[in-house]
Amino acid sequence: MEASFYNDLDASWAHAWQLLVRGVNDRRHGFHTIQVATLGRDGTPQLRSVILRAVDPQGATLRFHTDARAEKVAEMEAQPTVALHAYDARAKLQLRIKGEAQLHASDALTEQAWAESRPMSRTCYRMQPGPGTLLHAPDAYLPGSEVDVPPGATDAGYAQFRAVVVQITQLEWLYLAAAGHRRARWTRQGAQWSGQWLAP
Ligand SMILES: Cc1cc2nc3c(=O)[nH]c(=O)nc-3n(C[C@H](O)[C@H](O)[C@H](O)COP(=O)(O)O)c2cc1C
Repeated sequence: MEASFYNDLDASWAHAWQLLVRGVNDRRHGFHTIQVATLGRDGTPQLRSVILRAVDPQGATLRFHTDARAEKVAEMEAQPTVALHAYDARAKLQLRIKGEAQLHASDALTEQAWAESRPMSRTCYRMQPGPGTLLHAPDAYLPGSEVDVPPGATDAGYAQFRAVVVQITQLEWLYLAAAGHRRARWTRQGAQWSGQWLAP
């Protein structure tokens, strides 16, 4: 039995977005952890995993969170064009995304995202020294474990918290199937999206 979206470009597009939305909420889904590529300040590609925090299929955006002191933030400030990758083995689906990153700090969006973050996630943003700093010992950073700020107290981590919204400009899709792999690419032209099949 082929998937309901097999050989149907519009249904494949809708299915890909459904799975991205699922990836936000389902920690075991392959799309929960995605890979973000940036252009390094030395001109070489840089790649790392982040957690997919929000998806807006209508606006074609997705969001992840990071620390202002992380190298990727400086990289996106210098070059906002990013590439993203996601693969879910059960869905047999790979997504390769191109987009423009917008960094949010201390605005309504970051406030809401911070309020929705779990204490364990917030702890990371209070870490001293910042991510990527050279240490003289493996545990020479604080806080080393999960400790939350008492209610009402100012959370020192919020100043470092960044929500990154990626405005997607291109989505490439690869579906692995015994009956024949399928590959497609959608590109954004103004407010419109147009999709085409590609040889896998
Ligand atoms: C499963 C997993 C999830 C991660 N999620 C995030 C995340 O949501 N945000 C983030 O900034 N780093 C996350 N990281 C850490 C990054 O992969 C990376 O090591 C760190 O952000 C430093 O990257 P940079 O020096 O390129 O900025 C995650 C790592 C793993 C293994």
